[in-house]
Amino acid sequence: MTPPRKLHIKSYGCQMNVYDAQRMVDTLAGEGFVETGSVDDADLVILNTCHIREKASEKVYSELGRLRAVKEEAARNGRQMSIAVAGCVAQAEGSEIVARAPVVDVVVGPQSYHHLPELLARAAKDGRAIETEFPVRDKFEFLPQPKPDAIRARGISSFVTVQEGCDKFCTFCVVPYTRGAEVSRPAVKIVDDVERLADHGVREITLIGQNVNAYHGEGPDGRTWSLGTLLRRLADVPGIVRLRYSTSHPRDVDETLIQAHRDLAALMPFVHLPVQSGSDRILAAMNRRHTADDYRRVIDRFRAVRQDIAFSSDFIVGFPGETEGDFRATLALVTQIGYAGAYSFKYSPRPGTPAADMQETVPAADMDERLVRLQELIDSQQSAFNKALIGSTVDVLFERAARNPGQIVGRTAYLQPAHVMAPEEIIGQVLPVRIESLARYSLLGELAAVPQCRPASSAQMTDSSVTRMGA
Ligand code: 5AD
Ligand code: SF4
Repeated sequence: MTPPRKLHIKSYGCQMNVYDAQRMVDTLAGEGFVETGSVDDADLVILNTCHIREKASEKVYSELGRLRAVKEEAARNGRQMSIAVAGCVAQAEGSEIVARAPVVDVVVGPQSYHHLPELLARAAKDGRAIETEFPVRDKFEFLPQPKPDAIRARGISSFVTVQEGCDKFCTFCVVPYTRGAEVSRPAVKIVDDVERLADHGVREITLIGQNVNAYHGEGPDGRTWSLGTLLRRLADVPGIVRLRYSTSHPRDVDETLIQAHRDLAALMPFVHLPVQSGSDRILAAMNRRHTADDYRRVIDRFRAVRQDIAFSSDFIVGFPGETEGDFRATLALVTQIGYAGAYSFKYSPRPGTPAADMQETVPAADMDERLVRLQELIDSQQSAFNKALIGSTVDVLFERAARNPGQIVGRTAYLQPAHVMAPEEIIGQVLPVRIESLARYSLLGELAAVPQCRPASSAQMTDSSVTRMGA
């Protein structure tokens, strides 16, 4: 029997890449590959890349520089190592990658991962293989399902892709070019995936998509299902105790989604809703198709049905033409909404996007200064949000043994890590925890209920109330 070949995947960027990396592992498992944590003994290294900002893109080339040395060392030892570049840089830059980094054997865009075995064979024969097509057929049709032991090894929380691509064309964003037009998977396929995951121990599902709430897949009843309708169906899958979704666009929040938050206990009251800027002038230049007030109204609709709901967001500072006044409108919006956390980035011009041609660039020093001010405000909101939990009792879904012996770590509804001393049997259960202290971003507490002496597969939601706070 030939020994298994070793595969090392390094993923950058978003949750979609984490999910795609698992699909690549599943695909290559069929070819006799097993995962390794190190590049040194790998027969195949895949860089699953991100193109969203310049820094993310450039990381690929520095990593390829390092890998060249590893590949040469392997060759000196009589071992052949292949290098593949996947993800959005592969899609956007295609053959330019091999021109800049001849060490690369395979370039594969996000729609072609099911062709990986064939591309590797082609590269072995011809020296190189590149595929960055946007096929019309659903790539999910061709990607193998993960094996039960792979599902179990990945833990109790899983991502499931429900849609890919984006039709919004925000002027700063590469996604519509790298991931293509928006495509939704049929609901039955998603329900099948979730049932299968639940059967093998998964308790929490995060539905992912570049614009997840634009989901409009074909339902089993022949109608078009919205994200809210899909969530309602998935809440009925036995074993699934928590549902989340990411990332949403404010324009695509419809009434079915609001009602899902009103009605579904499993749907976590934590929504990532990027706004990017608080200035209407900048929002228009970004082609966001909403104003700051539209966004406030969307937030109000969520809050009207779930008082305990909290929000996170994404912000860009220094978009072309952004004045101090525009930036202050962003600070004002953040102050008014009150976030549980948020990501903020300096604007980075991306080749091929409309904003890259805008002339009124903001000086780097102003961008730096605005980023610091915004992050200070967001950090203060986040730490107030976390501190407010101390002394309260919250539901935690336990995920795994922590590094400290005897400790188990899980997450609150708001994704804060929470640690308790408890037996491992609680993994997979949702239990109330009395929060005693906060260490950086982690909560420390004590179980407030006796764990169920049942296998993790019978975990259920408790009805203990999560402490609600106006974020
Ligand atoms: N420059 C800076 N940030 C960007 N983002 C997307 N494109 C750019 C860009 N060109 C940010 C947005 C988005 C998040 C995923 O990345 O805030 O919501
Ligand atoms: Fe990019 Fe999101 Fe805008 Fe789509 S909605 S173009 S993914 S920022």
